[in-house]
Amino acid sequence: MSCVPYDHPAFDAHEEVAFFHDATSGLRAMIAIHRHWRTASAGGCRVREYPDADAALADLLRLSRGMSYKSVMAGVDFGGAKAVVMGPLPEAGEARRTALLRIADWVNTFAGAFRTGVDFGLRSEDVAVMRERTPYVVGLGAFDPAATTAHGVHEAILNAVRHRLDRDDLEGVRVAVQGLGKVGGALVDLLLADGAVVVGADTDVDRAAAAVKKGVRIVPVEIIHREDVDVFSPCAVGEILNETTIPEIRAVVVAGAANNQLARPEDGLDLHRRGILYAPDYVANAGGLIAVAAELGEHDAAWIGRKMKALGRTLSHVFTVATEKDIPTQEAADAIALERIRERDRRFGHNPRPQLAAQR
Ligand code: NAI
Repeated sequence: MSCVPYDHPAFDAHEEVAFFHDATSGLRAMIAIHRHWRTASAGGCRVREYPDADAALADLLRLSRGMSYKSVMAGVDFGGAKAVVMGPLPEAGEARRTALLRIADWVNTFAGAFRTGVDFGLRSEDVAVMRERTPYVVGLGAFDPAATTAHGVHEAILNAVRHRLDRDDLEGVRVAVQGLGKVGGALVDLLLADGAVVVGADTDVDRAAAAVKKGVRIVPVEIIHREDVDVFSPCAVGEILNETTIPEIRAVVVAGAANNQLARPEDGLDLHRRGILYAPDYVANAGGLIAVAAELGEHDAAWIGRKMKALGRTLSHVFTVATEKDIPTQEAADAIALERIRERDRRFGHNPRPQLAAQR
């Protein structure tokens, strides 16, 4: 393979790919802008221990492109982008702080054209440190991305239940929530408020205990996907929909927050053949990005509410197209997203980096 990413299999006309290296500490990071379109591009900052730089680059190209897909489905203006840091970062203390400030310097080189925030391996305290050096970090504003993500998943469940079970409410609907963390915990509250019957599982006993107090029945993590329920909501880890779990799923709807729920594209087809309606993860969990858009655009809660309803309509459209064409929902969503991306490419062109330094 060539040492430049143009002929990388995951390259999709990305507009900028930047490589950073701190000679003193050895810290390495990459930032990719899949599309600028007319505004800042956005995507989280992921810290992972990659086996090598090729693996980091593949993740970078794939994830930044994925953010454009999420953005067009969420109906927000951002082009997709991502930062990946080749971990590990120092666990704590001054060394971690120094590394975070260095990453913030690299974010600043985009002069506002790239906005970033929490992702795998980065904590909100870390983002607060980066904020000391760069104004271009998000997720510390008025709207909690996790709570907004939970609202989006709730909207996804409502739409999927309407489509699959022909019901307009969740009263008595049985939902299994895998992972009772920031998103799963908030989702449980919304479901219970709707009169749903909730069963949950979490590897963290304290989180499970907190859910019991709300009225959630807890089952072991190994069996949550097998529960006799209407809806299975993965809100913990990726690749949970795979050749082992899918034949055991009894729910007729799968809608959750976890990223990359399908282990392989064939698993989407398997769900489709079994009559399980799957809300594609990057649409169902787009609430976090909507919260970020609200923060940057200084929008209010009513604006978020409208975006949530639009997200629900987009999902309904995905379900309708998948039903009409008899294809997996993931395939339908990808086709709709790609069409929207092409439309934005036509409208905005492949822009040079927008001059956004004044926009904070
Ligand atoms: P979190 O870390 O607060 O919660 C995840 C929970 O899952 C934890 O309580 C953890 O103990 C539990 N868990 C881990 N492995 C498990 C397993 N095998 N079985 C059952 N429980 C398990 O994370 P958060 O923020 O709630 O995110 C949940 C998922 O949603 C993640 O996959 C994340 O990537 C995705 N997501 C989160 C967004 C956000 O804004 N927080 C936005 C979009 C996606």
